[in-house]
Amino acid sequence: MTTIVTDSPEEAARFIRDGETVAFPTETVYGLGADAFAEDAVRKIFQAKGRPQDNPLIVHVASISQIDGLVDRWTPEARTLVDQFFPGPLTIILPKSPSVPSVVTSGLETIGIRMPDHPVASAFLEACGRPVAAPSANRSGHPSPTTWEAVWEDLQGRVRCILQGGRSRVGLESTVVDCTSSPPEVLRAGAVSVEQLHEVLPEIRISSVESADVVRSPGMRHRHYAPRARVTIVETPSAIGPGNVAYIGLDAPSSPPTTSRVCESVEEYAHELFDFFRMCDASGIETIYCQSVSESRLGRALMDRLRRASEATAGSAGR
Ligand code: TXA
Ligand code: MG
Repeated sequence: MTTIVTDSPEEAARFIRDGETVAFPTETVYGLGADAFAEDAVRKIFQAKGRPQDNPLIVHVASISQIDGLVDRWTPEARTLVDQFFPGPLTIILPKSPSVPSVVTSGLETIGIRMPDHPVASAFLEACGRPVAAPSANRSGHPSPTTWEAVWEDLQGRVRCILQGGRSRVGLESTVVDCTSSPPEVLRAGAVSVEQLHEVLPEIRISSVESADVVRSPGMRHRHYAPRARVTIVETPSAIGPGNVAYIGLDAPSSPPTTSRVCESVEEYAHELFDFFRMCDASGIETIYCQSVSESRLGRALMDRLRRASEATAGSAGR
């Protein structure tokens, strides 16, 4: 399959309407989309990514009104979250409408919905004229792509089109909140922070990785966000070991490895992380030392991704 790269949302949208797959930019990470109501098109996403069939997709909308066609019913909490945070880096889970093919949600009776806050994504979704199912646009198990070049690296020849849109502003995937439970529950930390969620819904809960998370957010079972290199979390750069290693964090090492990135804020760290992982893999780094950050606001999402990457690569050494 030839992969076309374009900067035209309209050209990309034509492929969606023809039942093909299109990678597109969002403010969190790039997504790999297909018409959410076309079962065969959605299957192509799983094929292209090598994604396990039991991992449900998030459906992306251009407008709040499109949500009505995807859900069986709303909840008051979901209304509050949509009013406050859409468009933005938040996914809400609601009871699914029977008209959405079950391949989208891996057979679940619930559906994840998100409205990206990105001009190119909005123009694209608008031009598609229908909701677009889309996971992150990486090969399954790789870090999510934050540039179109990273999508190209993973999916060229496997998807019909890549829509260019610069680098993703946030760099980590959306916050996922399950609104089908009462009180609602955060299944995945992201750029809409728990602190922000608590301001509008004080009762909201945070699921722990050990329990509900694994069962309720099926994606969390799978290897995620991980480079090939081993990821080791350190409190300070003084803990960097010898060898073919790299470092990313907020504090500058006294003698930095050749491959290192010192970030000025947690926001910059989150923005850089997945791109840095990919760069390290491209240059054959064996261990990536990542400095821990305080677990408030975006720091919670960043630490979540660092832990998952570290757990997923625990047995590896620069494979
Ligand atoms: O920022 C994002 O969310 C990006 C962009 C492209 O929107 N998308 C993304 O999709 O990260 P993906 O498929 O890589 O991650 C979606 C997560 C998975 O952990 C999946 O299991 C969970 O959301 N999810 C989707 N639908 C769900 C549902 N109905 N119930 C529980 N979890 C769900
Ligand atoms: Mg993903």
